[in-house]
Amino acid sequence: MNDAFQRIFARPVEAVGQAPGRVNLIGDHTDYAEGFCLPIPLTLKTDVALARAERFGVFSLANDEMCVFDPLGAARGDWTDYVAGPIRQLIDRSIDIPPVDILIRSSIPQGAGVSSSAALEVAVIRACLSLVGADMTDGDIARAAQMAENNYCGVQCGILDQMACAVGRPGEALLLDCRTNEGRSVAVPSHFHFMVVHCGQDRKLADGAYNARRRAVEHAARQLGVLTLRDASIEMVDQLNDSEQRQRARHVVSENARVLKAIDALERGDADGFGHLMYDSHRSLVDDFEVSVAALDRLMESSMAAGAYGARLTGAGFGGCIVALVAPDRAAAWWAKVLAENPKSWIVQG
Ligand code: GLA
Repeated sequence: MNDAFQRIFARPVEAVGQAPGRVNLIGDHTDYAEGFCLPIPLTLKTDVALARAERFGVFSLANDEMCVFDPLGAARGDWTDYVAGPIRQLIDRSIDIPPVDILIRSSIPQGAGVSSSAALEVAVIRACLSLVGADMTDGDIARAAQMAENNYCGVQCGILDQMACAVGRPGEALLLDCRTNEGRSVAVPSHFHFMVVHCGQDRKLADGAYNARRRAVEHAARQLGVLTLRDASIEMVDQLNDSEQRQRARHVVSENARVLKAIDALERGDADGFGHLMYDSHRSLVDDFEVSVAALDRLMESSMAAGAYGARLTGAGFGGCIVALVAPDRAAAWWAKVLAENPKSWIVQG
């Protein structure tokens, strides 16, 4: 990063920050209903380097693009909002961030549903805090990053991605309780091998559909007279009159139960049990939550046919990745079969 920064900005780096991408093993579209999720950090990561400047500027090696932005001004409606928003959050918390030049290098693919945005937000916050010698807990960094995305970027995401990127530890799944924002790390047994595979179709124009899902979930909770669907049971959900609300709520409530069972399976080392829960989660995201696309479904079915214990779309859906649980010694043969049936798919991390 130092050499690249020197080349682009003609002076040395003053501070750096880093954060990994994440894959969610199970528990999707539950975070904004105060539910449970089970993410694990990826080894792919985003690095941010910065130094004081006359005005805010950012260069992304991925986009090969230099942009000037103003965190106190309005959002630009492009990728720089994921840099400006977090800085604005720090300024709003009375942490005085001077204008800086920022360099971004990332190995996390964009639009794949593996939290390239959250990793960028968290890495920017860490670099800024380091520059001015300020401190925040990892949990507070996650919350500031989420607020940046909600308030500045206009995406009504939950806390899953930012917590996974800021708090998660390599090689450990993080059982996240989105009611208390507390996480419990659970070691992944060595016979559990997770493959993260992109279906070949990027998540596109999905923000509107995502926000609509969130609204339906919140309406359902209001209809049921509970604060969030965390407090609803399947029996209560069955009483909902509106069929769309009933479907959406059924996914959230059943998914929360699956996460808790999955933790149990993980702790017992029961790959078959964990895999079944992944499969059921995918079906629920297809039938009740309706966030899948044909390419994800095909990839999931091929994964199962090729011998995975389980597979499911991961993240928001509408394109991007599946995560599959396979036996480590069968991973290569598994991938050969899956690729033959899904030639546009590619391994994000295996
Ligand atoms: C996106 C959001 C998260 C979460 C997932 C679905 O990644 O950013 O907050 O809602 O979708 O589980």
